Amino acid sequence: MKTRSRLAFWGVATLTPLAMLTGASAWAQTAKPGDPAAAQKKVAMCIGCHGIPGYQASFPEVHKVPMISGQNAKYIAAALLAYQKGDRKHPTMKGIAASLSEQDIADLAAYYEASGKNLPATPAKGGAATPEVTALLNKGACASCHGDGLNQPRDASYPKLAGQHADYLYVALKSYQTDKNAKIGRSNAIMAGQVKQFTLAELKLLANHIGGLGGDLKTVPQAKFK
Ligand code: HEC
Ligand code: HEC
Repeated sequence: MKTRSRLAFWGVATLTPLAMLTGASAWAQTAKPGDPAAAQKKVAMCIGCHGIPGYQASFPEVHKVPMISGQNAKYIAAALLAYQKGDRKHPTMKGIAASLSEQDIADLAAYYEASGKNLPATPAKGGAATPEVTALLNKGACASCHGDGLNQPRDASYPKLAGQHADYLYVALKSYQTDKNAKIGRSNAIMAGQVKQFTLAELKLLANHIGGLGGDLKTVPQAKFK
């Protein structure tokens, strides 16, 4: 019995870094399902930015940090892995993601998906889409992936967009157009193909419209010390 459990321990200890190097599929196999309760302490690392409504970041330009409460766990985990692997280059989030284990990522993703579920949905702030915006949404077939109201993605690894901060959406959209920059940019084949058909002015129109939609995304304020 004793030898066995010690063996199992070493098995886990040596497998973990390997699994991290080999990426998402290995990650999915080795991490236990995310446990929101286990993330209670880990979120201390996040709430200074993601737990303060309207908190501003200044890189690469001033914008509000994204709302992640109510986002799909699978997408949150995919985003954190992308920062960890360098597919998303934002320096602060890269540094933070690098410090997380695969289990931390699973737990934090489950935590933020559940966070705010008992609170009312974020109401719409904007009006109906103008004909110009409707044409852009149709051109990109945004709803075919991001779902009805851009709030019900077809796949849980795709993000909910509705009601996300417009200034963040604009920065995110531009980042898919950026490559060959050490500190800015996201490499994602699907969204790179999408954004390249739009001008910056069109991306801004899209961001402003989507930011005005109502949806599940929220910032849930938390007491810093519990
Ligand atoms: C210093 C402020 C700061 C802290 C602390 C921080 N974040 Fe972030 N986070 C940001 C900013 C800014 C972005 C947008 C980065 C970008 O443009 O890609 C972001 C992006 C994200 C995203 C991607 C959101 C999306 O819609 O794609 C996730 C997920 C995320 N953070 C989770 C976390 C978690 C979990 C923690 C704690 C372990 C954390 N963050 C700590 C500032 C922060
Ligand atoms: C074929 C599916 C598909 C289509 C069509 C699509 N998207 Fe996406 N979108 C994705 C995926 C997948 C991601 C996540 C990429 C990543 O991991 O960085 C994403 C990410 C995004 C993000 C980043 C969200 C965040 O929280 O950081 C924005 C903004 C976005 N899409 C807007 C749009 C808009 C606007 C359109 C239409 C012009 C569109 N998308 C069309 C699949 C799609």
